[in-house]
Formats: sequence, C-alpha cells, structure tokens
Amino acid sequence: MSIYPTTRLRRTRASQWSRALVRETSLSTHDLIWPLFVTSGDGEEPIASLPGVSRWGVRQIVDRARAARDAHIPAVALFPNTPADRRSPDGAEAHNPDNLVCRAIAAIKDALGDDIGVIADVALDPYTSHGQDGLVDDNGYVLNDATVAVLMRQAVTLAEAGADIVAPSDMMDGRIGAIRGALDEAGQARVQIMSYAAKYASAFYGPFRDAVGSRGLLKGDKRSYQMDPANAREALREVAMDVDEGADSVMVKPGLPYLDIVAMVAANFDLPVYAYQVSGEYAMIEAAVAAGAGERDALILETLTAFKRAGASGVLTYHALDAARLLNG
Ligand code: PBG
Repeated sequence: MSIYPTTRLRRTRASQWSRALVRETSLSTHDLIWPLFVTSGDGEEPIASLPGVSRWGVRQIVDRARAARDAHIPAVALFPNTPADRRSPDGAEAHNPDNLVCRAIAAIKDALGDDIGVIADVALDPYTSHGQDGLVDDNGYVLNDATVAVLMRQAVTLAEAGADIVAPSDMMDGRIGAIRGALDEAGQARVQIMSYAAKYASAFYGPFRDAVGSRGLLKGDKRSYQMDPANAREALREVAMDVDEGADSVMVKPGLPYLDIVAMVAANFDLPVYAYQVSGEYAMIEAAVAAGAGERDALILETLTAFKRAGASGVLTYHALDAARLLNG
C-alpha cells in the first residue's frame, strides 16, 4: 500500500543525483536520425516555413553528414528538392541513377563510408508533377500496383547509389514485400527497409512539402492512401503486414500527436519502432520559442524524451543536431 505520509513520492525527486538514479528512460544521441533536404543548387537555401532548416547542395550535404557523425548521430535521412523540369506525371526521375538524391547519397558514402548510415525515402512525390506519392489515373486516383512497380525500381536505384536503408513512405499496399524482393534480386540483400508503416494523412506535413517543392503542385490530398488520423487499431494491421513482408523496422508518423500509436506498436511488435517528429511539429516548437512561449533547449529535450518514454527506438527530428549537441554537453 502506498499511503501518505509513509509514502512520499517527492522523496526520490529531491536531488539531481536521485532523479538520475530513478530515471526510467534516457535520451541519447544514438536515438536520433537527422532529416536533410538536398538542392540542385550550390550552397544553402533557407526554408521559410521551417526556420533554422535549409536545403543544402550536394557538397554542403557532406558537411552536414560529417557534423552529424561528429555529434554521434547514427544516421541521416535525405530528401531531394527535384528541379521542376525533372518532374513528370510518372515520376521517372525517381529511378534515374544520376538524380539529385543518388548524387547526395554517393557523396556522403564516398566521404564518410560506414561512419554514418544513409536513409533514403521511397515515394514519388518529390518527382511527380502532380505531387502525389504514386502514379495517378485520369480521375487523380493513386494507382497501387502500378506505383509499386516504380517504387521497386526506385528502391534498387537508391540501394545501388549506396543507401544503407530505404524507407518507403508512400503507403501503397504490398510495397514492402515487393521492394524486399527487388532488392534481393538486385544483389542488395544487405540494404535495410525502414517502413513508414503507420503514416497518417496529416496537416503537419506542410513545411516538408515546401522543402521538397511539392506543396504548390499537389492537387487534392493523400487520404486515399495515408491513414485516417481517427484510426488506431488499423495501425496494427499496417505494421503487421509490413513485418510479414520483411520490414527491418517500422515508423509511426507524425510523432507527438500519435504517441498512443507509437506505444501500441512498441508493445505489440518486437522490431525497432521509430517516430517521425515531422516538419509541422518542428515548426510549432520554433513558433512557440519565437513567441516567447517556451525555452527552446528544454522543449527539444522534453519532446524527444517523450518519444523514448512511449517506446520509440529512435526519432527522426529536424532538431537532431541541436539535440545531439545538448546531449553531448
Ligand atoms: C513523402 C514524405 C512526406 C514526409 C516524409 N516523406 C510528406 C507527405 O507524405 O506528404 C513528411 C515529413 C515531414 O513533414 O517532416 N512521402
């Protein structure tokens, strides 16, 4: 029985050493994955809706990856802002071995080798002229199986460029098994698949779409393939399918508004589960700081710790480098 005054829960909170001793979860730099945007230009292009985040040219992206490595961040995730003249209805640039993201992957791997993991998204939205993640029919409906066939080629292209992990973020049915088969067939059995398994049709992706240049192009929404924010149990079915199809790890996205999903997936499956603290969440924190509503370092560390407490193995966050520097002292 826990009865006051015999039991006083404040007793263990009274000093720093004691709080450290009883702490249930801890955040480490090894929990962080840093998403980076690549531009075909040279240098740095700030992104207005993501203050503090920029797109970087291929040469500069290597420096970003080096900074991540030096801060003990295990992996970066790359997203290209494809030049407009390389976007098309069929997103064919996605499997051009000389496309922007492939050049960035190769440059990082050349410079840093196995010192850092490189994750590359599999989905067509940075490459399509309509901004959808797949091929569309005359009514704008995103076709499943025809899209999966393109994603297989894209995944092999990314693997051949040197990606260590491919991360399908498209939400087509059956793509994990198809991509696993295609990778193995192409002699890329060592490449991991981190599946965006429970990805919701969220209003928190806006700044990301600015960053990859798809916001102005996108007509309609992504609700015919991304999940309904009202559904939780369905996430378990999504994850179960991807596990059966060979995913090495799964992701829940967005992050903080979906911590219940993170906790549920972590409790029900025995593979690593990552959370993506997405662009709109980052922007909310930065806006709060700019408005004087909170202290930046504390907001960063508290939100990231919350992911660990919910059961996440790690977090994709635009705050990764800042967080790592705080954790490294
Ligand atoms: C592309 C993709 C998106 C994000 C990651 N991969 C956007 C979308 O589905 O529209 C969002 C990440 C973020 O908002 O930070 N399929």
